[in-house]
Amino acid sequence: IRRGYNCEDHFYEYDTIRHSWEVLAVLLKSSICEDILIDVGMPVMHKNVTYNCRVAFLNRRILLIRPKMQMCDNSIYREGRWFSPWRKIRTVEDYFLPRQIAQITGQTVVPIGDAVIATRDTCIGFEICEELWHPDSNHIPASLDGVEIISNASGSMFEIRKAYEVVDLVKTASAKAGGCYMYSDFFGCDGGRMFFMGFSSITVNGAMLARAKQFSLREVEVTTATFDLEVIRSYRNGIRSRTHSSASSPAYPRVKIDFALTSDGEICDLMSSRIDTSHVTDEYSLTTSPEILYFRPEEEISMAPACWLWDYLRRSCQGGFFLPLSGGVDSSSVACIVYSMCRMIVEEVKTGDPQVLADVRKIVGDCDYVPTDPKQLCNTLLVTCYMGTENSSAQTKARASQLASQIGSYHLSIVIDTAITAVLGIFQQVAKMTPKFRVHGGSPRENLALQNVQARMRMVVAYLFAQLMLWVRGRPGGLLVLGSSNVDEALRGYFTKYDCSSADINPIGGISKEDLKRFLVWFGERHGLSAIKQILEATPTAELEPLKGGQLVQADEVDMGMTYKELAVYGRLRKLECSGPFSMFCQLVPRWSHCSPQEVADKVKHFWRCYAINRHKMTILTPACHLETYSPDDNRADHRQFLYNHTWKWQFDAIDEQVKKINEDDRGRGKREGPKIPTKPQSSYGAVSTPLKTNKLPRLDCD
Ligand SMILES: *[C@@H]1O[C@H](CO)[C@@H](O)[C@H](O)[C@H]1NC(C)=O
Ligand SMILES: *[C@@H]1O[C@H](CO)[C@@H](O)[C@H](O)[C@H]1NC(C)=O
Ligand SMILES: *[C@@H]1O[C@H](CO)[C@@H](O)[C@H](O)[C@H]1NC(C)=O
Ligand SMILES: *[C@@H]1O[C@H](CO)[C@@H](O)[C@H](O)[C@H]1NC(C)=O
Repeated sequence: IRRGYNCEDHFYEYDTIRHSWEVLAVLLKSSICEDILIDVGMPVMHKNVTYNCRVAFLNRRILLIRPKMQMCDNSIYREGRWFSPWRKIRTVEDYFLPRQIAQITGQTVVPIGDAVIATRDTCIGFEICEELWHPDSNHIPASLDGVEIISNASGSMFEIRKAYEVVDLVKTASAKAGGCYMYSDFFGCDGGRMFFMGFSSITVNGAMLARAKQFSLREVEVTTATFDLEVIRSYRNGIRSRTHSSASSPAYPRVKIDFALTSDGEICDLMSSRIDTSHVTDEYSLTTSPEILYFRPEEEISMAPACWLWDYLRRSCQGGFFLPLSGGVDSSSVACIVYSMCRMIVEEVKTGDPQVLADVRKIVGDCDYVPTDPKQLCNTLLVTCYMGTENSSAQTKARASQLASQIGSYHLSIVIDTAITAVLGIFQQVAKMTPKFRVHGGSPRENLALQNVQARMRMVVAYLFAQLMLWVRGRPGGLLVLGSSNVDEALRGYFTKYDCSSADINPIGGISKEDLKRFLVWFGERHGLSAIKQILEATPTAELEPLKGGQLVQADEVDMGMTYKELAVYGRLRKLECSGPFSMFCQLVPRWSHCSPQEVADKVKHFWRCYAINRHKMTILTPACHLETYSPDDNRADHRQFLYNHTWKWQFDAIDEQVKKINEDDRGRGKREGPKIPTKPQSSYGAVSTPLKTNKLPRLDCD
């Protein structure tokens, strides 16, 4: 189901615990829950310690409170901040129920701890989220002790290219130990940057029987499978070494209940080995294995941030989105993701989901509205705006309006020169000086200031239009402003602080430039958007400097002094492999064999210098859907200081020392004589940028 997991620091409030019991009381009393063994997640305080728990109940009686035993504090999870792990292995204690619950269940104490539930016909155990990833997984000893069904409730967030990990884990877990693995995950946006995977599945003896639709706009997805318990028993009995270890395996405390999951008489209802693919109705699915449908990264990008945007839109009670559309790869990707969202809504309404229809009606303010055409819906929900100056090229403007017309967005093309002139006028009046662009002989400082004022003016204009465009169009409410800088630009600090990268939310702030390009290629072909071809062919540029003889003087990769491919490499090394400047250099010398050690050193230093100078910008990144492992988002993903001495003297000296050593060694062995001429890149680590001028000032806000 959507929502519920991300209470975060609200878990400190006793209110959250109290209200959780109140909700449980409603569930206990509900007639829908009759004769179903139910397992729900909630925080439970026991002896004044808060645990993250599963609560199992059946017919108005609580059977077991099972606290989680491994906390997840990796990446953007902070579970240990709110909960303590249950440390008492195979031990239960008495839990004294709150009075309002005791009145319903007629119990005063229930077991809390590391136990399993024995029914008349089988045994059910629990594994909670991180416990699955942990090397010392709980399902192994539990299965050895005869637990046949494991219920794993997870709050696993989505990252691009991660789906196979979960499938592998679940399949391996149930193949090795035999048994049924019921894995449930949240899906959608839960009010923060995370997007939950929604990869719920039911797997028996290593074969996946059923799987939830991964990207869905619905509130609830139900996954069911029917199988024969005998299949588990013969499977296990066939693995002789397993049965021998099992015979000596320590026992779990068992909560015994007089209840059966199977009905009498159905002796030989053989496991249906058929895969339930009835959920695979959408056009995106692509088969790569006979039973599991994985999406390619470009498909994931078309859906995950789209679902996240939808959740955000309907819960924020706004009337749609406003997007500054420059006709470049980034903002075009955002436009396509919104369009993709519209396609998903139309699709979901067609299949008859009442909640999606009710939500979209509320958003557009028309209680009879039925979306049938994605382009028409996109026109209703998305306002795109090309914000040009007299110096913008005609091509970018044309590209923006062409894409807008192909996806159907409500498009505006405006010129903001008068505002820029007015602001500069205020400065000139006081300072009695006029800053000039580089091409007109201005200093780097002047050049930068002139670009930044343009860039920031776009943000002011964007918010003005976002607030008033629905007024203009005769509808209530306002629009959410969408940002569109990618994860690489954030890492490099290649954006102006508080320009139109500052927005309400950013669907692509967690996606790399390379992935965005792949996505656009695929999306354009898939939906026949011919405008995308030209967008991809154009040189990426911020277009903040004047044209010279009608030509661009500015190209992003030259400006940055590094390529997007290189940036993705730096990003992964810094974040995933925890490399500082020196280890990054050491890792890259062998990987980038197309560069001399000195060139690698220059590149690495240039990256760290830019990073240090620009780190402060990462504190104000627009909240983005977390999708890439190396996000530098200071607020959640990456806790580091933001004031550095950018000379990195100690670290860079160590690099220089190492370069000297490598060169001496190589000369000794007669290799790499003299200055090496860089050849074209061969390795997958990508293109070499133009040679660096190491004294070059990074553009935009950087000094
Ligand atoms: C907190 O600790 C006190 C004293 O041991 C105990 O009476 C009380 O029930 C505890 N409350 C909770 C919610 O754990
Ligand atoms: C339960 O799910 C989590 C993923 O959220 C996984 O790490 C853990 O290993 C799972 N347990 C088993 C037994 O697969
Ligand atoms: C546009 O270019 C012209 C001519 O190069 C220059 O004089 C002017 O300052 C530029 N205007 C803006 C707003 O960048
Ligand atoms: C930065 O480090 C260099 C080298 O250690 C040092 O000379 C310089 O004073 C430092 N700068 C600041 C502002 O601390």
